[in-house]
Amino acid sequence: MCGIVGYIGQKDATPIVLNGLKRLEYRGYDSAGLAILQDETIKIRRVAGKIDKLFELVSESPLKGNIGIGHTRWATHGEPNKTNAHPHLGSNKDVVIVHNGIVENYLELKDELIEEGVNFKSETDTEVIVHLIELFLTSGLRIDEAVRMAIMKIRGAHGIVVFSKNEPDRIIAARIGNAGGVVIGVGKNEMFIASDIPAILDHTRKMIFLESQQMAIVKSNEVDIYDLNGNALTYEVHNVNWDPVSAEKGDHKHFMHKEIHEQVRSLIDTIAGRVNFTDYLIKFNDLSLDKELAISINKIFITACGTAAYAGMVGKILIEKVARIPVEVVIGSEFRYSDPIIDENTIVLAISQSGETADTLAAMDEGKKRGAKIWVIVNAIGSQAMRIADGYISMQAGPEIGVASTKAYTAPLVDLYMLAILLGELRDSISEQQRRDLVNNLRLVPDLVGECLTREDEIVEIAKRLENMQHCLYLGRGINMPTAYEGALKLKEISYIHAEGYPAGEMKHGPIALIDNNMPVIVISPKDPWYEKMISQIEQAKARGGFVIALATDGDELIKDIADRVIWVPETPWMLSPVISIIPLQLLAYHIAHQRGLDVDQPRNLAKSVTVE
Ligand code: AGP
Repeated sequence: MCGIVGYIGQKDATPIVLNGLKRLEYRGYDSAGLAILQDETIKIRRVAGKIDKLFELVSESPLKGNIGIGHTRWATHGEPNKTNAHPHLGSNKDVVIVHNGIVENYLELKDELIEEGVNFKSETDTEVIVHLIELFLTSGLRIDEAVRMAIMKIRGAHGIVVFSKNEPDRIIAARIGNAGGVVIGVGKNEMFIASDIPAILDHTRKMIFLESQQMAIVKSNEVDIYDLNGNALTYEVHNVNWDPVSAEKGDHKHFMHKEIHEQVRSLIDTIAGRVNFTDYLIKFNDLSLDKELAISINKIFITACGTAAYAGMVGKILIEKVARIPVEVVIGSEFRYSDPIIDENTIVLAISQSGETADTLAAMDEGKKRGAKIWVIVNAIGSQAMRIADGYISMQAGPEIGVASTKAYTAPLVDLYMLAILLGELRDSISEQQRRDLVNNLRLVPDLVGECLTREDEIVEIAKRLENMQHCLYLGRGINMPTAYEGALKLKEISYIHAEGYPAGEMKHGPIALIDNNMPVIVISPKDPWYEKMISQIEQAKARGGFVIALATDGDELIKDIADRVIWVPETPWMLSPVISIIPLQLLAYHIAHQRGLDVDQPRNLAKSVTVE
């Protein structure tokens, strides 16, 4: 998510906004900017890159004024460059905006505005909003009315902060859905606005939290809050006693825990703007995939590292099942030494959260050299992987700070699911009804993930039972075999316990010799097409004295009788099962590591992005 800061009062807004943005650095971003009303003119300074560059720019060309807004941007639409950085001005330079969230219908609105003669300067979806506001202002509305009318036209979740030079006694703030918060800090004849408490905690502890579908008119000495029909609302002023550092993680002790719990939001964003639930169609605007290309594909290599590679293994099953295209998963560090057989009808699909992983980039280069078309599923917009690819799918998961990947695992799983459907539709390998059913199942994902998260206490209990184990086996089969690998990786990388993911069917070919009552076995056995086979795995492990924790679908009495512990997950369409099954395993790894007092966010020897071979 991006960061927002605003100020209106008697002081100079510039240092307040800049220092507030600095406080939000932890959220991860790739560009920054601020707008100040100075001598009745809106002045803007923006940079690509880190906030220190913005400080330098402002010291070289200072800004001074009593009203200002600022933003740190994590790019979802358009490269992270100065042009796309917020704030964005309207064409008449009367009104300026900063925005968190995704305008799901920005393409159609942008077309309509261009028809009206609007000249866009950036590639962002945000710019659509400020031009809409300007259109309503020119029809004679006040700034608050114009913002409300603009909000009625946009779809998605948003945090919006706007001011106009023609009504310089107020800032308008609005929150739609959950694209990060909108907080109003109450001072003495001054008010502060932020997407996160840490940005303004130095100035006040009296906070008003906007709720979804609410809009505020913020003046230096009063705040009025309305619903989107213009009805005035009462509100509470809270006293926040967080210390600034812990405020950065909100209620969470670690970024990893925060990011595990962000997966309802991040998956809503992953799906946002890609699914037409009227016609049940998928579209990826940045992939340049059409019917002709889809039909021409004779093979897809999926290449990635670590967690991303495990997502690729799920993608193989999905794309082969739905689109009937042969898929081979080759980890990045092996790909370029594997002499891959590639021609002009081959796709090399990379997956990378950072977009800077050296082994994955090398694999992409190798594929390009051999004539393949290169795609990437990437979270960091503007990263090297995105730049060298012929087309990309943005994970739209927001910045991931914890080294252990969580939401940047579930996001590509859903992207791969949607890609499989799109390829299947373009290649006529699925019927319309099959497509509609598969698309319809996407609606279930946020609630199913949310349901898993509500069961965290059950996981804490199991984590306590496993806290002192030295080894652990994770067994999975079919579409949940990668779940076993990923679950084991989560545990080993943050708890330093030797954990191994294994194809369940392979146990009898050797590894079963490892099982005794000191070897807990986590068996991933939800109701999926491989379920029946997993029952015997549980029995085999039990017969050798193993302590078996089975991940099972709600209501499964058989597994409840034979396993020592059960991790329950809600019933899920099998192709989306890996998205759900990994949630409790993320939580299990987190709680075991936390109980062991380890540095969950920065595990020893690991980096968030491995930019060396
Ligand atoms: C996963 O928790 C690790 N952080 C690591 O395996 C990671 O997935 C791998 O290094 C790939 O990183 P990328 O997605 O940024 O390319």
